[in-house]
Amino acid sequence: MILLDGKKTSQDIKVEIAQAVSKIKLEGGKTPHLAAVLVGSNGASMTYVGAKVKACEFVGFNSTLIDLPEETLEEELLNQIDALNTNDDIDGFIVQLPLPKHIDEQKILMAVHPDKDVDGFHPMNVGKMALDVPTFLPATPFGIMELLERYKVETSGKNVVVIGRSHIVGRPISILMSQKRKAGDATVTIAHSRTKNLTKITREADIIVAALGIPEFLTGDMVKGGVTIIDVGITRVDDATKKRGFRLAGDVHFESVSAKSAYITPVPGGVGPMTIAMLLKNTLLACSRR
Ligand code: GUN
Repeated sequence: MILLDGKKTSQDIKVEIAQAVSKIKLEGGKTPHLAAVLVGSNGASMTYVGAKVKACEFVGFNSTLIDLPEETLEEELLNQIDALNTNDDIDGFIVQLPLPKHIDEQKILMAVHPDKDVDGFHPMNVGKMALDVPTFLPATPFGIMELLERYKVETSGKNVVVIGRSHIVGRPISILMSQKRKAGDATVTIAHSRTKNLTKITREADIIVAALGIPEFLTGDMVKGGVTIIDVGITRVDDATKKRGFRLAGDVHFESVSAKSAYITPVPGGVGPMTIAMLLKNTLLACSRR
């Protein structure tokens, strides 16, 4: 079993980005600038956004964190997005999800200018991705593709089962892996909460992407020997033995599944850090395009 080490791989990518930024600065170019908008105080979101800002510092980007209260009105958020769209120093920005219930997420994502949409969530960029036109790829699927590529995991002609059909992960990774591209050319099945006989389907998979958000859902009896496992889940599970009162669990029961795997991502330290590295990569691209 080989661990797909997202922590190390993302560090390699961040060093590559830092070198590119040094070169840009030496040549008198513009320092890339990423902004993140956080609405409310969701614990996990605060952790993610904090990690994104810290990663910007590491690679030499400028970063701006816009921290808005839970009660922020949709109109106020739209005004904030407009200000970021028209701010010439900002190369790209993200609105951290999930948003409070009184805000229409789709309306917000559509307000982000597609050229600054480094999350790749705007319908224009989703459409380009689906049509295989170069654009910002959403960071988590992009990170998975990069991890598979750097570890030279064969995907061509393989049976890939994606569990979960979210707009952020399941849907885009299923599109990308079916395309004619590196880490692509796979035969992809999307499974979800209405899928019947899931175990029969997962047992035939060469590669499984677990992105359903249920801790330790995928167990050893559901996979065949030699499988490659990408675990996208990261849920806080109560654990009294831990100082902070919880541990982080993936969607995969690591002990039983890793015993049968050729490759597997750990949680934490797998897909999570890759997501941040790819967001930086998209920001560098946004800056160089402007
Ligand atoms: N929430 C969970 N994942 C993401 C992500 O990749 N981008 C944003 N903006 N919010 C998220």
